[in-house]
Amino acid sequence: MPDRNKSRATLAKRRGDVAAMFDRVAARYDLANDVLSLGQDRAWRRLVVEAVDPQPGQLVLDLAAGTGTSSEPFTRAGSQVVPTDLSMGMLEVGKRRSPRLPFVAADALALPYSDASFDAVTISFGLRNVEDTAAALAEMRRVTRPGGTLVVCEFSTPLFPPFRRLYENYLVAAIPKIAGVVSSNAPAYEYLAESIQAWPDQAGLAAALAAAGWRDVEWRNLSGGIVALHRAHA
Ligand SMILES: C[S@@+](CC[C@H](N)C(=O)[O-])C[C@H]1O[C@@H](n2cnc3c(N)ncnc32)[C@H](O)[C@@H]1O
Repeated sequence: MPDRNKSRATLAKRRGDVAAMFDRVAARYDLANDVLSLGQDRAWRRLVVEAVDPQPGQLVLDLAAGTGTSSEPFTRAGSQVVPTDLSMGMLEVGKRRSPRLPFVAADALALPYSDASFDAVTISFGLRNVEDTAAALAEMRRVTRPGGTLVVCEFSTPLFPPFRRLYENYLVAAIPKIAGVVSSNAPAYEYLAESIQAWPDQAGLAAALAAAGWRDVEWRNLSGGIVALHRAHA
């Protein structure tokens, strides 16, 4: 297993650069995603919408929405979604590609929304990148109406040990090399591999949600635990 504390310390030094890093990968972000996840990200995104289960007329916040790829399935399902992200580079690519999505530039730690203004909040592959996980979870809870839903889609820990070892090798050895070719930015994808290894497992993230005041915390493993969907209520 990786040394999670050591990795976290290394990452802490880099986190100030997160927005700049996403600015640099923005142009080829979605292509790299498709290649590195072997196309599985599309199925994961559909399952996020299913887990949120938005009802007609409900308002959904997609936090750390990047180029809006995680927001588009909500629009296709007929929901009103507000994609919100810190990186101007990601937002600009998103705006060009999906001009009708109402992108907002904002920090997950200081959202420009009133208390209880959303029926549901979702964050896909974003929470791991936010500097203070507990503060972000508290801020998400503040903007969710009582009884509203949170769905976190994030890389997690594969359940089957031999598969886990294979996957860790893929993260450390293969991802930065493949991403170097697809996106011309290998260091950003070294960060991706390290940040996934430093991230809490399924039970650890569930505990963080509960500690931030979220109720009825549950999770579902996708692709053998490579990704987990955590759901909870405000
Ligand atoms: C891996 S991308 C995920 C984008 C999108 N949700 C998806 O599923 O494709 C992570 C995003 O988190 C954003 N991010 C990182 N820290 C943030 C913060 N403090 N507030 C808002 N967005 C943040 C980055 O700018 C980046 O666009």
